[in-house]
Order: sequence, then C-alpha cells, then structure tokens
Amino acid sequence: MTSREELFAALEGVFDPELRRPITELGMVGKLEMDSGKAVAEIKLTVVGCPAANRIEADVLAALRTVVGVTAAEVFLTVMTPAERAELTAKLTAGRPPKTNPFGKDSLTRVLLVGSGKGGVGKTSVTVNLAVELANRGFSVGLLDADVFGFSVPGQLGLTDKPIRIDNLIVPPVAFGVKVISIGMFVDGNQAVAWRGPMLHRTVEQFLTDVYWGDLDFLLVDLPPGTGDVAISLGQLLPTGEHIVVTTPQLAAAQVAERSAAVGLQTGQSVLGVIENMAWLPQADGGRFELFGAGGGSQVAQAIAKLANAEIGLLGQIPLDVELRLGSDSGRPVVATHPLSAAALEIGRIATQVIQAGPKLTGKKLPLNVF
Ligand SMILES: Nc1ncnc2c1ncn2[C@@H]1O[C@H](COP(=O)(O)OP(=O)(O)O)[C@@H](O)[C@H]1O
Ligand SMILES: [Mg+2]
Repeated sequence: MTSREELFAALEGVFDPELRRPITELGMVGKLEMDSGKAVAEIKLTVVGCPAANRIEADVLAALRTVVGVTAAEVFLTVMTPAERAELTAKLTAGRPPKTNPFGKDSLTRVLLVGSGKGGVGKTSVTVNLAVELANRGFSVGLLDADVFGFSVPGQLGLTDKPIRIDNLIVPPVAFGVKVISIGMFVDGNQAVAWRGPMLHRTVEQFLTDVYWGDLDFLLVDLPPGTGDVAISLGQLLPTGEHIVVTTPQLAAAQVAERSAAVGLQTGQSVLGVIENMAWLPQADGGRFELFGAGGGSQVAQAIAKLANAEIGLLGQIPLDVELRLGSDSGRPVVATHPLSAAALEIGRIATQVIQAGPKLTGKKLPLNVF
C-alpha cells in the first residue's frame, strides 16, 4: 500500500516556479489519496488564474508517477481560502510587518546599484548579465528595474510574465534564475510613464516593500541614467547600497558618469567600482580597435575616488561583442547563451570581483532561514 506520506514526500521536489519553494512547504497540497493504484492530488493554487498552474500540474503528475505502486495520477486544482493565503503570506514574509523595507541598515543582502551618466552606455545590459551570472553561480538574486522612464530589463530578459499578487504581496516573475520587477510589467504595451517625484518615490518604495524578494544574496538595481528623483529616493531607501558606475571609454562621457555616483555618496551609500563598457572592438588578428577612444573608465574611477576619498577600482572592461547585443535584443543574456564569448568572460571576471568584495558579514548575525 502506498501511503500518503510517500506521495507527500514525492511532492517535496515540486517547486512553485515563482515563489521558488516546494509546494509542500507553501501549503499548496490538499487532499492526497490513493485509489487502486491511482494517485489523486488536490493542489491549492495561491490565486485564481495562477500563470504557473499548468507547470505545477505537470510537475505534480510527474512526481506522483515516480512513486512505487502508482500506476496512474490525477491532479485537481483548487484555490486557497483567504485564511490559507494569509497563512502563506505570513510565512513568506517571515513575520516581517507589512510595508516594511527588507533592505534597511541591518540587511544582509548586498545591494548593487548600477548607474551611468547617460543612457545607451550598456547599463541595463551589464546589470542583466551580472544578475544572471550571479544566479548561475548559485546566489539568490533579485533585479529591480528602477529606470522608470526607460525600462528595458523585461525585454532584455525575454520576460512577458506579469507579477502575481497574493493579497498584499507582489510575487515577481523569474527569468534565468533572477527575480525581476519592473514598471514595464505594470503598464500596457509601450505606454510612456510620465510621473513626478512623489509618485516615483512611492513606486520604487513599493517595489522594495511589497515585492516578495525572499532571502536575497544580491539585489541589483538598474538605475535611471543621471541623478534624478529615483536615485535620491533609492539613496534613502537602500542605505547599504554599493554603486557600480558604467561608462564608455569616451572621455567626454566620463564627467557625466562621475556625477551619477555622487548622489549615492551624498546619501551615505558606497561605490564599489567602475565598469568600462564597449571598451574596444576585437579584431580578427587579435588586435583591439578602440572605437570610442580609451581611458574613460579609469578617469571615472579616479574622479570618484577623489569624491569618495577612497580607493575605487576599474572592475572590468567589456569589449564590444555582437553576441551581447543579439542577446539583449532577443531577451537571452549572453552569459547564459554564449558563456565563452569575450563579453561573457569579462562579465564573469567582474562577478568574481563583486563576490570577493563582500559580503559584509563580519560582526553581523547570520540570516536565520525561517522558511
Ligand atoms: N559591450 C557591448 N557590445 C555590443 N553591444 C552592446 C554592448 N553593451 C551594450 N550594447 C548594446 O547597446 C545598446 C544599449 O545598451 P543598454 O544596455 O540598453 O544601455 P543603457 O541601459 O545604458 O541605456 C543595446 O542595444 C545593447 O545591446
Ligand atoms: Mg537601460
């Protein structure tokens, strides 16, 4: 006789794709019975019309069929009651009161804010690839697209899924192992976002407080170019934030880039380093064609070092790479599709430096994985 325990144990390997936890822990398994060789499972979805329903159903059926004695399997989908949902959200927030920012001063998550002086220098491409690279290495990674007016993170990750809402929690869709939230997921089509400061502040604050990020090792933030309202809000909301400044080698662009880190410094955040993107175009003979000149990255690093009164390094120089460009156009980041391309290898080296620069665990309590 196959017991309920055996069936339940098999379901421990089935994960909710968005919450990234076993459905057994999430309270999603209801009735679970055997009827002459046939396993029948009730799966309680978090919300009606849960986009992951088909996938969960297929995974449950597959898991049940692995149990010895099961010759057939059937799933019936129901929806959690409000009380069950409340229990789930309480578990997910681990008792944290609603509407509080999990990335305050005591947070153990490393917050990396990627900024630039101007647009088009590859800030989003760097952020997305760095996030996917860190996730590939086993870290738990979130990505907040704070480039409210020029959002392009969902496109670069091929994400068309909308976040789902479980009561007051917004559950971010996951792409290439990264939890992602973007204003682009809340506006229809290519609609423009035309908001003033207070609305922007509330939105980025909500992205921090109402989104279920879980225990993150890294939260990456794609900042808007320059030094606007959003940068100031995030300076206040993310006190442990470490800035990464992306620039091209062009000296004219360097001065503007310096300023992007200045806001962070003024609000007490730190600067981790500078990335020079589009550094050169590799030539067939192994040479480097410096399309945008040279020296921008180190100039920015030196200037910020003066501002910060600290040593600021050049974390890396990413060459121009057609695979990177194709990857961002097609929503398939180059580090995932062409890990051996010149750009992906350099992003890998940058990721290693980022990891080695932290985490700042000394003297801090280790996170207790409540859930
Ligand atoms: N190293 C690179 N090699 C080739 N194309 C790149 C590189 N970095 C960025 N791009 C391309 O340049 C364009 C602008 O990059 P994007 O990441 O959107 O910049 P930003 O976020 O700074 O505006 C995109 O089409 C992107 O694919
Ligand atoms: Mg961008």
